[in-house]
Amino acid sequence: MFDPARFVEEKVEELRRDYGGARRVLAAISGGVDSVTSAVIVRRALGEVVRAVYVDTGFMRLGEGSVVRESLRGLIDVDLVDRSERFYGAILGLEDAEKKRVAFRDVFYGVLAELIGEYGCDYLVQGTIKADVVETVGGVKTQHNVLSEELQREYGVRVIEPLRELYKHEVREVARYLGIPESIARRQPFPGPGLLVRTVGRFTLEKLGVVQKATKIVEDLLGDVGASQYFAAAWEYEVGEESSLCLSSGRCPSFRKFRTLGTGVRDGRRVYAPIALINQLVDLSESEASEFTERAGVSRAVALLAERSSGRYFVSIRSVGTRDFMTARVVVPPLEVLYRASARVLEVDGVRAVGFDITPKPPATIEYE
Ligand code: XMP
Repeated sequence: MFDPARFVEEKVEELRRDYGGARRVLAAISGGVDSVTSAVIVRRALGEVVRAVYVDTGFMRLGEGSVVRESLRGLIDVDLVDRSERFYGAILGLEDAEKKRVAFRDVFYGVLAELIGEYGCDYLVQGTIKADVVETVGGVKTQHNVLSEELQREYGVRVIEPLRELYKHEVREVARYLGIPESIARRQPFPGPGLLVRTVGRFTLEKLGVVQKATKIVEDLLGDVGASQYFAAAWEYEVGEESSLCLSSGRCPSFRKFRTLGTGVRDGRRVYAPIALINQLVDLSESEASEFTERAGVSRAVALLAERSSGRYFVSIRSVGTRDFMTARVVVPPLEVLYRASARVLEVDGVRAVGFDITPKPPATIEYE
């Protein structure tokens, strides 16, 4: 049984022993439970030398920086630093998922290295947790926050990762124990590169705007459906000819392939292939989904919910349940909630159609890139 009080007590002692002589420490906070808990625990151990900063990458939820600063008032002071233009400059026009992730990571660490220099810090606190480490080592994707050795070489920075051995549910227990507000402790995970990995395919500011608005709607409406993660992603609504495929279960879905590629996992390795659009909402079992994606040559399947005659973008609503984030099942919201969300998303400027992702992990990943 995990005991958060014991973890905190031992970690604080260890941090004091290992880093007690630090001049100044920079804690980069994203607003998620991992980075906030890391910052607060290091602050508890080392005191005033810890400086917390929230870097606005431009890929955050609307208004996120101020929400985070307000909710941490009294626990830790957070400086807001806007570097969105720099991120956009490096990523605009990139299409390949890995190239986007790597470009994000380069700017991210470039910005942090500058802040470290500006603030005179000798350590950087990161919210890396066990799943981040496992997935990067397994080669599934470039996780933006797992590169401590490379980072230390490149920037001459040393990294403190107080939660590296914990799973997400344990981090939440530690957060509550430390008095971090429930709104953050129970918050759904948000990827480091943020809405960039949900602005699927070629990156444009227009598509990002659609994702930001759709995210707000989905997060407002799906908060109570019991999903561990629920969000929206968008890409161009460009699909090929219809075809169909009969699965060994007897089900024969008709589908079209989007031009846009998405990520998945097969046999523990990353897959990058088109996304399929299925005409009706079907409940695919994991084995059906695996057979379908493999035989159709796609990474995942999305069911069409609503459509109109104009607009450039397709928005997919994703809602999954998981404990360890290494595997995940689809959580179908009550249909009334799902259709209300899709109707509202369909009203967003530029949206042509809305769907619901029916693929478990594996064979899909939780995120689209
Ligand atoms: P996937 O898409 O690999 O996601 O099934 C598993 C979990 O990790 C989150 N995720 C990330 N978190 N940096 C992060 O800090 C990243 O680059 C990143 N990519 C995915 C994702 O939201 C899910 O909870």
